[in-house]
Formats: sequence, structure tokens, C-alpha cells
Amino acid sequence: MKRLHFIGLGVLAVLVLGVVGCVNVVLPAVPNRVDGAEAIPPVLAPYGGDEAVTSVAGWEARKPLLRAAFETHVFGEMPAPAAARVTRRRVVDDAAFDGAGRIEELTLDVAGFDRDMYLVLVVPNAAAGPVPVIVTQHFCGNRAALGGREDVSAPGPGACADEGVMGWGVKQVFGRWIMEPPIERILDRGYALAVHYPGDLVPDAAGAGETVLDAWHDGDDAGARTGAIAAWAWAYSRVVDVLDEDPRFDRDRVTVWGHSRNGKSALVAAAWDDRIDAVIAHQSGTGGATLTRSLNGESVEKITEAYPHWFAPRYAAYGDNEAAVPIEQHQLLALIAPRPVLLGNAVRDKWSDPEGAFLAAEGADPVFELYGSDGLVQETMKAFDPSADLAFFLRPGRHGVRTQDWDMFLDFLDAHFGGPRVASANG
Ligand code: GCU
Repeated sequence: MKRLHFIGLGVLAVLVLGVVGCVNVVLPAVPNRVDGAEAIPPVLAPYGGDEAVTSVAGWEARKPLLRAAFETHVFGEMPAPAAARVTRRRVVDDAAFDGAGRIEELTLDVAGFDRDMYLVLVVPNAAAGPVPVIVTQHFCGNRAALGGREDVSAPGPGACADEGVMGWGVKQVFGRWIMEPPIERILDRGYALAVHYPGDLVPDAAGAGETVLDAWHDGDDAGARTGAIAAWAWAYSRVVDVLDEDPRFDRDRVTVWGHSRNGKSALVAAAWDDRIDAVIAHQSGTGGATLTRSLNGESVEKITEAYPHWFAPRYAAYGDNEAAVPIEQHQLLALIAPRPVLLGNAVRDKWSDPEGAFLAAEGADPVFELYGSDGLVQETMKAFDPSADLAFFLRPGRHGVRTQDWDMFLDFLDAHFGGPRVASANG
């Protein structure tokens, strides 16, 4: 009986791998329809009736104009800040990971939502002084991000299967760290983690997500109703509210990290919230680091058909007419300058369009330089320099989060935030 059960699981695993693998393999390599480099406006050129920018003050004055254009045409209105309130604090485990870290779970009441948001903090026990912190969003929820621990809350539907054959299959295809960060390594390098699941607020589902977003919207412009990516970016900021009040965390070393859809929201969070000190956006693709006009990978038509809840409703009108979007993604990266930005990519992840992301980084670079930063120092996509303020890496392989990716993320953070500051075992 047991054996039959085992064989059944094996067959299921093969099927799951087949389906998930096909999705990964079949993702179309859309031919390049437009030369993005030629199509994007120089970032400092006159924009929207504004004169050319020649100084930091001029750029700072332009930022609200750019944010407004992104809100109207791409992401939808960014809701006003509303500090999250901690209603419950619970120690999950004060000696987790062989004593290296303490896990706490906070329940947050976030204005405008009748549902709670859960925040899991993982703090290195050996920390000497305030630690740098990495704020992560995971599409599978907090419990999966903590290795499936049952003492971490996993409320509501929406989080994907993190256990059993399905969880195993997803990790085979999308990498060991697709649902969770390598926590032991992160603690060992001296960083704390702040893990949250943005689906607690806005579910990642077309119907259910749109219902929540429609109810939340109080503006007059229905075409600019907040999209889920902006809402999830807002969720990153609510986590920063909480971290800012906690002396264990260094307010000057707060990084937001996200993969793919959460990489899009991490970029938006940093572009709107100056309290964020660095961003790691891995394979963020269309609506993230990649130029909309490059059209190598996912088109506006495809992304708005499959994920209508992610963007302002107006964005769908640019399907098949990307050249008409009056704002470009290099301007999103430029809004983060001169704070450190790392864009992770993979050679065969054509859907996320690494070439378009590199062009966007090149397009944003003049703003970094305006602030006196060297910005993007690499001349080719593979010449990754972790110490650059605008860094880009391209590894072999496909879409997913692998050990090599976290090597680069941590090298980038060490280069910018001074490396590990955990007290050694010998004091
Ligand atoms: C889909 C989507 C992408 C997104 C990705 C992800 O592939 O088309 O835009 O980045 O999902 O979040 O994994």
C-alpha cells in the first residue's frame, strides 16, 4: 500500500514537473519588434512641459511629475501613507537556526483594510548593534518563506502549495530559493529579515484582487485605480514603518528585495519611499526594470490580459501600442537614484527581457551621475560589479531564485552596507 502511494506520488511529481517545466520552456522568445535604445527619451531631457534637468535640485523637482505619470498610466494611484499599527507581537522561536536567530511574528493593523497583515522578523542573535535588514515579499506566503514552520501563521487562501510533491516540483524548476530565502546564510552575514505576504492585503488574483482594489479606491479617475503592484509597494512601506520604530534595525540600511512580480513592487516601493536605502529586484521584467518599449519579452497586452489586477486599468489600453505610454521604466530606476539598485537576470529568462533591463539601467545612469555616483559602471551585461550603485548581473539559466543569485545579492549588500557586523562566536 505504502509502495503504491509512493509510486502515485512519483507519477504526480513527473506530471507537475512536466506542466511547470513546460510553462518555463514554452514562454515565448518574442522577437525584438522595436529597438528600445533608440525609442527611450534621455532621462534628463525636457519632460511633460518641464525643462531639461541639469542639477540635483532640478531632478528632485521632476520626481513628483514622473511619479504622477506612472500612477496615471501604469501602476495606478499610490495610496497616501498610513502607518501600520502593531496589534500583536509573538515570539515564535528565540533560538531558531541552531541558535543563530530569533523569529518573531507581528500582526499589523493597516489602515483601510479589515484584514490583518502578518510580518515575520528574523533577527541575528549575535548582532552587535542595529543590523541592516532585508524586507522581502514572497508570493507563497510567510509560512513557506520560513521553511514550512507550522508555528508561523499562514492565513487565508492565496498562498501557493509549498509542501509535498507540488512544492518539491516548483523548487526543482524555479530553484531552491523560489519560496524562501536562505535564512541561515543571511543571518550569518549579519542581516535581519522582515518577511511579509502582500496577498494578506491584496490577493494576487484577478477577480478577488480587483474587488479589494476597487473598494479601496477613493479617487475620481477610475483608469488610475491603484493596481496590485502599487498596493504591494505600499505594503513594503508599511513594513518600513514598523522597522523604523524598532532600535534593533539600522534605519540607514533598509533593503527591499523581491523576485519577479515582487521585484516590480520592490522597485515601485523604493521609487516612492525615500526611507528605503537599497533595492534588489530580481528578474522583475515588464512593469519592473525592463523597458516597456524594448518588447523583447512580455508585452503590455499579455501582462494586462493575464494579470489585469496588477496595474492601473488604463495601462491595458497601451497593449500593442507601447510607444504611446508617456513614461518609461528607466525613469522608474532613476527615481531611486542614487540609492543602490541591483537588477538580477538570467540568460534564458527571455520573458523578463534582460536586454531591456540593461537598456533601462543605461538610460537611468545619468541621474546617478548627477548625484556624484558612478551609477552603472559595467559596459556589458555580464561584467557584474557588486560595489556599483546601479549593478546588473546575468547568470546562466532561467527564471527562478538559485543559490548563485543569493551569492550576488549578499555580495552587493556587503559592498554597500559594510559587510557583516555580527559579533564572532569568540566575542
Ligand atoms: C509571470 C508574469 C511576469 C511575472 C512572473 C512572476 O510570468 O508574466 O510578469 O514577473 O509571472 O512573477 O513570476
